[in-house]
Amino acid sequence: MKAKIIGTGSFAPEKILTNFDLEKNLDTSDEWIFTRTGIRQRHVAGDDEATSDLATRAAQNALEMAGVSPEELDLIIVGSITGDFSFPATACLVQKNLGARNAFAYDVSAACSGFIYGLSNAELYHAAGKARKSLIIGAETMTRTVDWKDRGTCVLFGDGAGAVVLETSDGESGILSTHLHSDGSSWELLYQPGFGSRKLPSVEGREGPYFLKMQGNEVFKIAVRYLSDVVIEALESNGISKEEITLIFPHQANQRILDATGKRLKIPLEKIFSNVASYANTSAASIPIALDEANRTGRIKAGDLIVLNAFGGGFTWGSALIRW
Ligand code: UT7
Repeated sequence: MKAKIIGTGSFAPEKILTNFDLEKNLDTSDEWIFTRTGIRQRHVAGDDEATSDLATRAAQNALEMAGVSPEELDLIIVGSITGDFSFPATACLVQKNLGARNAFAYDVSAACSGFIYGLSNAELYHAAGKARKSLIIGAETMTRTVDWKDRGTCVLFGDGAGAVVLETSDGESGILSTHLHSDGSSWELLYQPGFGSRKLPSVEGREGPYFLKMQGNEVFKIAVRYLSDVVIEALESNGISKEEITLIFPHQANQRILDATGKRLKIPLEKIFSNVASYANTSAASIPIALDEANRTGRIKAGDLIVLNAFGGGFTWGSALIRW
């Protein structure tokens, strides 16, 4: 039995912050940001919007496309590192918002790979007959984690959510394989001290130790290596050639990372989906947002082979090979 994607959805907050807006309060420029990252703008959650709100809207869009009611869901997984609270899980809040009273719900913390980790978890429940319909979401409010005075990181991230509805299927199409990897040895190249158990919470709230930290150029090189390695791994383990792939959906971190990944794979850039210009890096949300855009604009059709490949803090990385 396979898990098949029968609906996609996405949602991004209304407020948009362009590179030109950033120029006003930060020593940066549209020229620098666009040349180094391919990013033109990012969506920013309003003060009254939390990650579960974005996740719920994306989920509703995916359920509507799938023609599935919330009560039919057996499972909800949210990939996120910016959940509403330490607990309960954001997935439980989404379950409540949707009225998905028959679903069990939990979050997956794998940074930018959170959606692929969630998809891989769900695939196992479907294969084991433990779920027939599930909802997998990647949702983030990354702009709440950045230090707006740190130009090396704050220009890179945005907020949004993407979702897919999976159904158990014995047909040709569905998830053909997933591969997950982790390496905690370089965790400090990309992390957020935040209010976890290692740093005492500050009564003042957000200050220096709270914010996301990243050694960008180190992360860049590792990202390109693993984002391309997992594509090769997915293809080889399924006996599929690069030429048979219609589109690849890498985590949307930076256009230069996407270009370098395509180059390393010797895959034409037209086959590497990109919408990083409009959303910036939305962490776990980036792949399902990209997938929804491609699906709704007819860039993927029944029978197409696609690869989703993610890389993020941890480090974590992984892939899903899907026959659409
Ligand atoms: O999900 C995975 C998440 N990780 C990522 O997406 C990050 C991957 N890394 C990157 O995308 C790139 O490394 C960055 C975009 C973060 C940086 O690009 P880079 O080409 O590696 O630049 P750099 O860090 O080597 O910095 C070059 C210069 C520095 O100035 P000096 O020391 O040469 O005078 C920086 O201070 O650019 C400066 N700089 C900026 N200038 C204007 C850094 N950020 C900015 C900025 N505006 N926003």
